[in-house]
Amino acid sequence: MEFQKLIRERASVRSFKPSPLTQKQLGAIRDAANLAPSAGNMQGYYFYLVTGKETKEKLAKAAFNQGFIAEAPAVFVFFADAAASSKKYGERGNLFCIIDASLAAGYAQLAAADLGLGAVWVGAFKDGEVKETFGGEGRPVCILPVGIPAEIPRGNPRKDRLKKAI
Ligand SMILES: Cc1cc2nc3c(=O)[nH]c(=O)nc-3n(C[C@H](O)[C@H](O)[C@H](O)COP(=O)(O)O)c2cc1C
Repeated sequence: MEFQKLIRERASVRSFKPSPLTQKQLGAIRDAANLAPSAGNMQGYYFYLVTGKETKEKLAKAAFNQGFIAEAPAVFVFFADAAASSKKYGERGNLFCIIDASLAAGYAQLAAADLGLGAVWVGAFKDGEVKETFGGEGRPVCILPVGIPAEIPRGNPRKDRLKKAI
């Protein structure tokens, strides 16, 4: 999709058809996440792709019962990798890894929209429960359920946040 059209038309989707996504679709989303810029190209993030019912249900519960997470055929979960960023940036790496993970998730979300798929960034969850789902390490930043939309997303209005230079 043309970029201006993509960023204007993307909107969060919270209802999904059960049909699985193709390897090609999943691969394009994965590539986009890996292609995001990162501080010093350290890629201070890692992510999981969850398709199993039980794990998706755990994630939905961890996210205060946001049930659409379990409905989505594919759920990406992005973690900040402080160890990777701190190798180069020390204390500042703790910030950079969260930015890196956010950019990767944002690229994945745009890639999904580009494919005509629906997705929503989920940030409200109990960190401990999400961590525990994947072995207890790292800092989860974003749960991104992706699927064929079962609703037509409603665009949300934006304010112009540009401030005048002093
Ligand atoms: C950091 C962050 C956390 C969010 N957490 C949630 C969430 O837990 N549940 C949810 O339904 N949407 C969540 N959203 C999605 C926003 O509500 C949504 O992006 C915003 O309302 C703008 O709508 P749009 O994405 O349709 O443009 C989150 C978005 C961001 C960036």
